[in-house]
Amino acid sequence: MLKRRAFLRNAGSFLAAGCAGSLASGCARRSSRLVLRLGHGLDVSHPVHKAMERMAEELDVRSDHKIEVRIYPNEQLGAERDLIEQVQLGAIDMVKTSTSPLEGFVPLTAIFSLPYVFRDEEHYWKTIQGPIGRRLLDAGEEQYLKGLCYYDAGSRSFYSKSRPIEKPADLQGLKIRVQNSRTSMKMIESMGGSPTPIPFGELYTALEQGVVDGAENNPPSFHTSRHYEVCKYYSLDEHSRVPDIVLMSTFTWKRLSQSVQQWVAEAAEVSAEFQRELWGRKTTEALEQVQAAGVRIIRPDKAPFQQAVQELYREYNGTPVGDLLAEISRVK
Ligand code: GCU
Repeated sequence: MLKRRAFLRNAGSFLAAGCAGSLASGCARRSSRLVLRLGHGLDVSHPVHKAMERMAEELDVRSDHKIEVRIYPNEQLGAERDLIEQVQLGAIDMVKTSTSPLEGFVPLTAIFSLPYVFRDEEHYWKTIQGPIGRRLLDAGEEQYLKGLCYYDAGSRSFYSKSRPIEKPADLQGLKIRVQNSRTSMKMIESMGGSPTPIPFGELYTALEQGVVDGAENNPPSFHTSRHYEVCKYYSLDEHSRVPDIVLMSTFTWKRLSQSVQQWVAEAAEVSAEFQRELWGRKTTEALEQVQAAGVRIIRPDKAPFQQAVQELYREYNGTPVGDLLAEISRVK
């Protein structure tokens, strides 16, 4: 562990010495433009990608064209877990990731992968925009991950190839792709399915070739990934609300002057507001478009799914995630 920390620190100072120019503090070289590299796994047509473009525009304007956020979509630089590691090392500056794979780095964020944590959308927003959301955004700093903002990722529901999922028993014998997250795996197990972690970018082929029988995601991701071409049943059981998050390497963050830090924070905030406005419309459009392409939308009774995961909650009793769960249930 110590060795790893020393390596990370060295990697940071090495990068600081060769980098960012007059916009960064404590940096030897003086260049006039700072490039911040941001990796993520979604398609450029996705509303979350559009929000990152908005953040880039905002920083461009605020910095008088001196800061460029260079966005690498579609897992060009790796899947989310690899991207988080690259950010920890300071090899890239930023990542946009789902909070599911983040639980391997910042354990408390496992809370988001638990099913039915939030009573409804209002409860979710009150939680993530309040002190709990702030605490979780800051929880990665010791892991060299500075949280900048959340993006709405709606709620996740099952989609499947060969038969509709109307109740937990329908998951029996089905291999369901999950994100790289232990909690997501446990959720599928508790509902009766077999979880299989696969990177998002490999999922289309995995579905097509029958490596898995189904997956789960929000409507814009189901649509922009074109998974609906293979999976013709979409069951809106809305089992989890797993936000996306933008993280910056603390190595990069500490190199930035205070005013640049402020611009970055403000641009992230502006992009989050923009994304939230876009999300509702894009969700409706995605559902209409997948239906037009022949997908059957199912609106199952959620109670049996909620019932199936009761045992899973008990596993967290007396753990920090269990305590957070109780705290969230008290958010009014
Ligand atoms: C959502 C999320 C992505 C994530 C994907 C997944 O679409 O926005 O960041 O990669 O789920 O299921 O892997």
